[in-house]
Amino acid sequence: MPDALPDTAADDPIVDGLPVIDLPGGATIHRAHLSEIDPVTVYLLAKLRQDVFTLEQHATDADLDGRELEPGTTILWVRTADGEPAAHIRVLTQPDGTLRIGRLAVRKQNRRDGFGGRIMRAALDLTHRIDPEAEVHIDAQAYLEKWYLGMGYETTGPVFMEAGIEHVPMVYRHPR
Ligand SMILES: CC(C)(COP(=O)(O)OP(=O)(O)OC[C@H]1O[C@@H](n2cnc3c(N)ncnc32)[C@H](O)[C@@H]1OP(=O)(O)O)[C@@H](O)C(=O)NCCC(=O)NCCS
Repeated sequence: MPDALPDTAADDPIVDGLPVIDLPGGATIHRAHLSEIDPVTVYLLAKLRQDVFTLEQHATDADLDGRELEPGTTILWVRTADGEPAAHIRVLTQPDGTLRIGRLAVRKQNRRDGFGGRIMRAALDLTHRIDPEAEVHIDAQAYLEKWYLGMGYETTGPVFMEAGIEHVPMVYRHPR
């Protein structure tokens, strides 16, 4: 069964299965490996990513890159009261021991409700649980660099094009 997650690291011992209902509108954050998610939710999460990255942002690379099939990948999503996923993010384990967060997407009708920030925070909390010393990398869309800087990410290189969209490489190191 997917786990519902608390949204802060501060009071976040491993509380798998604990429901958290303090997102707007009674939404909850969940996390699971792909193989543990019910097929309808898998479909809706793929559709959310397709709607955002392919249809809205016209990304030129395929969104489904196979990495959800890896055992070290965790998917997190926000489920709203309508039962549908409203936000998605994934955490990847890289061969070199670093962690990578990506595919942050919020359904259009739920933008600026705080879901993007909360699910990114939940993903960072998960990386802390996996390995508090591991670097957490993102390829941020360039228009969001300031937001990520405010969250504690650091920029590690110049803007580059990926999937036809400007990105900037960034890293987060958990405070010791
Ligand atoms: C980026 C995205 C995930 C933000 O989700 P959200 O739920 O609207 O985010 P929040 O409500 O938590 O807002 C957090 C902050 O993100 C930043 N932000 C969100 N949308 C933004 C935009 N269009 N331009 C600049 N900054 C933006 C702001 O700093 C915002 O804080 P504010 O509302 O106090 O100004 C969402 O707009 C989205 O899915 N965009 C398309 C896909 C995308 O760009 N993904 C990011 C890949 S790195």
